[in-house]
Amino acid sequence: MEIVPTGAALGADVWNVDLANLTDTAFAEIHQSWLDHNGVLRFPCQRLDDNGFLAFAARFGELDMAPINANGHYWKPEYPQLAVISNVVLDGKPVGSLGSYESKWHTDMSYNELPPKASILYAIELPREGGDTGFASTAAAYDALPEDMKKRLAGLTCKHDSSHNSVGQARKGFAEAYEKREDIPGAVHPLVAMHPETGRKVIYLGRRARAYIRELPPGESDALLDELYAHVSKPEFTWTQKWRHGDVVLWDNRCTLHRRDALDPNERRLLHRAQIKDVAPMSAAA
Ligand code: SIN
Repeated sequence: MEIVPTGAALGADVWNVDLANLTDTAFAEIHQSWLDHNGVLRFPCQRLDDNGFLAFAARFGELDMAPINANGHYWKPEYPQLAVISNVVLDGKPVGSLGSYESKWHTDMSYNELPPKASILYAIELPREGGDTGFASTAAAYDALPEDMKKRLAGLTCKHDSSHNSVGQARKGFAEAYEKREDIPGAVHPLVAMHPETGRKVIYLGRRARAYIRELPPGESDALLDELYAHVSKPEFTWTQKWRHGDVVLWDNRCTLHRRDALDPNERRLLHRAQIKDVAPMSAAA
């Protein structure tokens, strides 16, 4: 196995490994590299069937169920832990979620009390261009904050919105808008949290829209969140994945944000995603 860092604030390529036939020793090395490279690893040139993909994901912990689609079903009922991310429409019905839209910076399902600690995507069909996925290190971004900002953020909590997905669509059963911010559904998490495995402090953010800092009045909360998203998404804290067939990308939702570029709806893009449950919510950094 050869591990080659991207040279950016996060991410490394893992070469010469077959994820369908992984020894425990190789897995231990992968797990450590994942922590060492700020939570993003790419495994090029993989060939995985659905069982192999889910078996690799399950090495990291218990798998979460995939979100159900607008018809109330799993995308692949025979594999309820497997989410299909796709813009492909067959006989008028989408085969997966997120379509061709841009998806804004977020970490997965942070609107839940216990969000998944990790997510894994496997590229099966790709457009000729578009649909690149960007990642940001929220640990590197925290470290670079001025001391007075670190003091200002300490002890603050953020409400993460569960009513809309990352491409801005209201989820089934949720309202488009809420009169009072307190009515917005979702979980509350510390704004500065501690990564349970590395001990590093992170700026813990989800989707920007409708999120708010509970201890601040609306105007101040919006201004501070806008400032934090602008900071975290600076080029020095980010890296962009340009997908190739067979790429598997693993990310740590506890210390990264990710986003996706829009793509031409006439091009096909199809990826499989699995998510790994966490054992405890993020705790506030001391
Ligand atoms: C996701 O946000 O889980 C999907 C990202 C992508 O489509 O690249």
